[in-house]
Amino acid sequence: MDNFNFSPSSFKNIVFFTGAGMSAESGVPTYRGRGGIWNEYKWEEYACESAFRSNPDLVLDFHELRRIEALKGKPHKGHFIINEIEDIIKNTSIITQNIDGMHQRANSKDVLELHGSLWKMRCETEGTIYEDLDNGKYSSRYCDCGNILRPDIIWFQDILKEKVVQNAISMISSCDLFVSIGTSAVVYPAAGFPRLAKDSGAFCIEINPEKTELSQIFDEVIREKASNGLALLKKQITD
Ligand code: OAD
Repeated sequence: MDNFNFSPSSFKNIVFFTGAGMSAESGVPTYRGRGGIWNEYKWEEYACESAFRSNPDLVLDFHELRRIEALKGKPHKGHFIINEIEDIIKNTSIITQNIDGMHQRANSKDVLELHGSLWKMRCETEGTIYEDLDNGKYSSRYCDCGNILRPDIIWFQDILKEKVVQNAISMISSCDLFVSIGTSAVVYPAAGFPRLAKDSGAFCIEINPEKTELSQIFDEVIREKASNGLALLKKQITD
């Protein structure tokens, strides 16, 4: 696709809204579709509070595997294009559902992690957060207070952090260009964000090689992988 029916050079406030497809070219598996994590692992056994309570080590081993996989990959061209756009249009932010930290590894600064981070562990008793970006393993699975730590991420049946959601809503309500990349748009409340952007008056673009539940609400759909789609978008912005 070479021609867009918009002129992004006039946009002043961009939100990139990313999902697992953004990291696919970095070698991180998506959740659904071919090779999807939830085809291999039942979330009921690996990604919810009740699984953690009944078998914490199994759940922590699963998340350690996720960290090791994320570390095997690295940010791709698309992550760096977002970076370049951040330099051109200062009011650019990223709202990601991804927990792999790939945007930050590409030096993006303004990243809101809706579903938390694989690189943070939380003590439920003290509220202490332990952070480790250096390797796939934590030195200890226990807090200094003796409690077992849980990944500081949103599991199935968890409620998103209120402040994080409010921040996301405020960013989306004031953007004039909303670019959704690599999300199947089936997990709420995140899946409601494109509609919020649209209702708030933003021009909405979807970059995804496949049709999604929400494709019809976008003003422009780019049926490409993230890196190609972002290259096309950047060309339009800089031309
Ligand atoms: P999904 O795995 O549901 O969807 C991935 C999307 O990426 C699909 O629409 C693919 O077509 C698309 N895709 C695949 N390769 C791509 C590429 N190279 N470029 C662009 N798009 C590509 O992932 P999410 O929508 O992110 O929640 O999943 C939402 C949430 O469900 C996740 O945050 C996770 C999961 O359960 C938690 O962990 C809390």
